[in-house]
Amino acid sequence: MTSSRPSAAASVPNDLEPYWMPFTANRAFKARPRLVASAKDMHYFTPDGRKLLDGSAGLWCTNAGHNRDPIVKAIQAQAAEMDYAPAFQFAHPKAFELAGRIAALAPGDLDHVFFCNSGSEAVDTALKIALAYHNVRGNGSRVRLIGRERGYHGVGFGGIAVGGIVNNRKMFGALLAGVDHLSTTYNRAEQAFTVGEPEWGAHLADELDRLVALHDASTIAAVIVEPLAASTGVLPAPKGYLQKLRAICDKHGILLIFDEVITGFGRMGYAFAAERYGVVPDLICFAKGITSGSVPMGGVLARKGIYDAFMRGPEHVIELFHGYTYSAHPLACAAGLATLDLYREEGLFERARKLEAPWAQAAMALKGLPNVLDIRPVGLCLGIDLASRPDAVGKRGFDAMDLAFHEHGLMIRGVGDTLALSPPLIISESQIGEIFDKLARIIKAVA
Ligand SMILES: Cc1ncc(COP(=O)(O)O)c(C=O)c1O
Repeated sequence: MTSSRPSAAASVPNDLEPYWMPFTANRAFKARPRLVASAKDMHYFTPDGRKLLDGSAGLWCTNAGHNRDPIVKAIQAQAAEMDYAPAFQFAHPKAFELAGRIAALAPGDLDHVFFCNSGSEAVDTALKIALAYHNVRGNGSRVRLIGRERGYHGVGFGGIAVGGIVNNRKMFGALLAGVDHLSTTYNRAEQAFTVGEPEWGAHLADELDRLVALHDASTIAAVIVEPLAASTGVLPAPKGYLQKLRAICDKHGILLIFDEVITGFGRMGYAFAAERYGVVPDLICFAKGITSGSVPMGGVLARKGIYDAFMRGPEHVIELFHGYTYSAHPLACAAGLATLDLYREEGLFERARKLEAPWAQAAMALKGLPNVLDIRPVGLCLGIDLASRPDAVGKRGFDAMDLAFHEHGLMIRGVGDTLALSPPLIISESQIGEIFDKLARIIKAVA
């Protein structure tokens, strides 16, 4: 899609200092800001009117593209009709409608939706549901949670405890007790330059059996993994790995949680990656793409049996002591409904599936450029590992992201020395070409 600049020039703020920016090198940013002021379809625009092709769907979230009219209109109409409805003991109709629409997209009997406001909250919600589920069924000894090295599950204490990224954990104390981790599935020696899911690595799921032998199944509540470990640098699941995890969880009565905060809503060519892999997890965390990033929203899909397990005792008593003031916020629900309409009307999940091959082909053409150690295209996602500068791990990736923004009109994410891409699903084949032309020039420039 082509985009023209939607609104008048915005001014650059005089004082950047008061804003403590999240997951940002604040001093470097404030010395040379990367500011965006407006957006439309595949593009951002800087305050001085420069156009940037969005190679990262914002932060893996604007799957339908930016400022799409039906979503904008739905948010505007909802804001005018009803700003807020209490989420505890009261509700508004769009919450039910959206829950039904999401459940209809989910595989198997994942048919109940608990709403929250972010991916981190979705993860905490899923972990709490898993623990409480075992409790209500009389299995209160199942308190252990299993995550995975290099996993990213947001920044709540639950999420960083099961997550496996050392910088996100090491400053924050003892985290949750009783957590253990599977190994990362990434092994460059075995998997480098694989298109899609690698052949090597399904056996790593057997580690769950080892953890069961160590802790005993009667102490383990749930395993949480991302079907594609995206934030850590785009590490696709090895072929057969997720299916194996499902089978081992079934054998031991352990709940399997898929964190689909990034993979949900089309990123992997399906409504949920669970469908791509033919695996029905017990709980799915989602966020980001549900509103195409337009209004914060997250949630957890639960299988029928899990919801039903809570529906007992006197009817006037709350069944799950958990929720957020802004669960199922009316603006988010209106945005979510309009977003799901757009995904369906424009066939965006199917479009992502069709674009996967040309996307991967264009990505693999970067092989052989200086410092490129691995290229991992999967779905409409991509990780490119660059060799670190000897004296400064992460600097080459940072320079590439910064240069892309300031000199090449491209937004990408730098994750250490890995470049991560995940464009909106409306991207055209010529825009794919444009991204990779720019990337080739950027990779050479940071050599
Ligand atoms: C898999 C996964 N889980 C959870 C989160 C956290 O989401 P949020 O930043 O909305 O809290 C993210 C964010 O990227 C994610 O990728």
